[in-house]
Amino acid sequence: MEKTFVIVKPDGVQRGLIGEIIARLERRGLRLTAAKFLQVSQELAEKHYAVHQGKPFYGSLIQYITSAPVMAMVWEGVDAIAAVRQTMGATKPTEAAPGTVRHDFGLMIGRNLTHASDGPETAASEILLWFSEDELVTWQRESDRWVFED
Ligand code: RTP
Ligand code: MG
Repeated sequence: MEKTFVIVKPDGVQRGLIGEIIARLERRGLRLTAAKFLQVSQELAEKHYAVHQGKPFYGSLIQYITSAPVMAMVWEGVDAIAAVRQTMGATKPTEAAPGTVRHDFGLMIGRNLTHASDGPETAASEILLWFSEDELVTWQRESDRWVFED
């Protein structure tokens, strides 16, 4: 099954939305594989956002992600990468569809609450960057057969 990496960013944590965001992913049928609450170091932030280095918003993005603790997670499911990005909505909250996290709780691109991997390669490299192998939990969920068709 496909795995994807998700962050509840500092604004989501500060606003008390960790539970709300996790609830939406759980209700969707995605399965939690790993989670940790941490203060992101400058080094980790720079590695995670290396692809954005040199862009005008890079400095404020690093400042944002290191400004307060985050909730980092791995979620698993059929088409998990696309499903999670759909649940989060478009990068710019005012362009995100109603019912998405970014629409329902956000207004600004620099306070858009979550991160989610954008493809299989980035998902794999982000999971490796944020988690060690032994932090990824392999488990069977009783409801799996009611969520995932054979
Ligand atoms: P994310 O990586 O956080 O899941 O978001 P994304 O794929 O939808 O957006 P991406 O292009 O990867 O941008 C990463 C984060 O950088 C901030 N950003 N600010 N001011 C701007 O023009 C701008 N563009 C991007 C956002 O916080 C975005 O989530
Ligand atoms: Mg991205």
